[in-house]
Amino acid sequence: MYQDGSVRKTKFKENIKIFRCPICETKMNIYDFKDLICKEGHCFNIARKGYVNLLLKPAKTDYDNEMFYSRKRICEGGFFDSILEYISNLIADETDKHNIKNIKILDAGCGEGSHLGQIINRLRSKTTGDLQGVGIDISKDGIFIASKSYFDIIWCVADLANLPFMSKQFDIILNILSPANYEEFARTLKDDGILIKVVSGSNYLKELRDVLYDGTSKQSYSNEKVIEHYSKNFTILDMRDIVYNSRIDKEDLMHLIKMTPLSWSAADERIKQAINMGTNNITVDFTIIVGKKM
Ligand SMILES: C[S@@+](CC[C@H](N)C(=O)[O-])C[C@H]1O[C@@H](n2cnc3c(N)ncnc32)[C@H](O)[C@@H]1O
Repeated sequence: MYQDGSVRKTKFKENIKIFRCPICETKMNIYDFKDLICKEGHCFNIARKGYVNLLLKPAKTDYDNEMFYSRKRICEGGFFDSILEYISNLIADETDKHNIKNIKILDAGCGEGSHLGQIINRLRSKTTGDLQGVGIDISKDGIFIASKSYFDIIWCVADLANLPFMSKQFDIILNILSPANYEEFARTLKDDGILIKVVSGSNYLKELRDVLYDGTSKQSYSNEKVIEHYSKNFTILDMRDIVYNSRIDKEDLMHLIKMTPLSWSAADERIKQAINMGTNNITVDFTIIVGKKM
């Protein structure tokens, strides 16, 4: 039986062919289960926890440990379950239709990894194909948390605008509530692969928005521009709104406020007001866009 870290390091060895050096774009090899090294000698250490940092320089990001732990708690509490079930059914149908036996799924901007982890777990009972998840995020804190929870997945600190992967590697690319780089998605997606992007709808966290931004332009939001940008880069095959209410107790309400960038520019006074509002019904509203390469 392997130790945790070794299981994950083995995943790198088994999948070494998907990697490409983020500096010189040549293929990578694995050395002694410890490092990924390219032909030019650029070397990236696999951390003991079993993730690799492929960033060229540390990224400045507003997403920190505390926020990711709150996000993880909310994810694991079932807040996103309907979306995750929908996405895993979609992936199972799509990979069955094309009879794909080795399903490779990239989550670009995976944060603390719960969505990818839960999607892969759900897929195990929906498909007989082999599954390999790969999660990347620019935040080391996010990837560190992910690597402690989901051992079968390959976790990388990386920039989605410079994906450290060879071309045409993935059957599915997920891009959930994160920025997109369509050029990189088109390059790394297989020709018959699909891109699943989740964007928030205008009523997402409406109850919070109403308190945090009452009377300001931020009280309302439209995802029209994001969808338009997607449609200029990928052919939309399907687009679906998923809207429901989720019950949240007061403790989780604090985590919900902490986990969302929505609260970043809110006044402290408004945040206190939101924490005290005592609502237990929060609107979840997402648009799921499914597309293929043009
Ligand atoms: C709102 S969070 C969503 C995280 C996760 N998908 C979720 O739904 O919980 C946005 C994520 O995008 C990541 N991100 C932002 N810019 C990025 C980039 N250039 N490359 C990779 N990840 C990026 C952030 O670090 C953050 O984890």
